[in-house]
Amino acid sequence: MDFKSYIRDVPDFPKPGIIFKDITPLLQSHWALSSAADSLIKDLKKEDIDKVVGMESRGFIFGPMLAERLESGFVPIRKPGKLPYKTLSESYNLEYGTDTMEIHVDGITKGDRVLIHDDVLATGGTALATTKLVEKLGGIIVQCNFLIELSFLNGREKIKPFKVKSLITY
Ligand code: PRP
Ligand code: MG
Repeated sequence: MDFKSYIRDVPDFPKPGIIFKDITPLLQSHWALSSAADSLIKDLKKEDIDKVVGMESRGFIFGPMLAERLESGFVPIRKPGKLPYKTLSESYNLEYGTDTMEIHVDGITKGDRVLIHDDVLATGGTALATTKLVEKLGGIIVQCNFLIELSFLNGREKIKPFKVKSLITY
């Protein structure tokens, strides 16, 4: 399936010199949206997954779609101060400075089998922080999947112990 033809390059966004991979053309097509969701869960069985964990904000697009297909729950990972209940936090390095992600402490029950999903795997910082949050709550990570992998940024190396799947690689 040629998902790449549904990704639009936007030069100089959000900063000069960066070519942004825009997934909105894919989202606008029912066929592409539905086929991409089907492909992301192709290697998984419903009984393999108890929770899909998705990262704010673009992991919230496909995350619940995958959860619905897998008949599992969805757990949001959010930026600091957004989740209302008790949270667990994990900080990670950016090119300049750090960022933090949070999860509700009851989002994962010990022994839950987890699929982690985000739209893009770039440096892997977001995904690595997410794996730490899930494991601290006793979750078992079955797979991390992404619509797009920017392989030249080596994010896959950062989350090497886990099974990683991506639909589109640049
Ligand atoms: C983007 C993207 C991933 C992350 C990947 O999110 O949606 O979540 O970067 O980068 P990394 O592998 O280097 O950590 P961003 O933080 O821009 O926020 P958004 O999803 O709210 O747009
Ligand atoms: Mg994101």
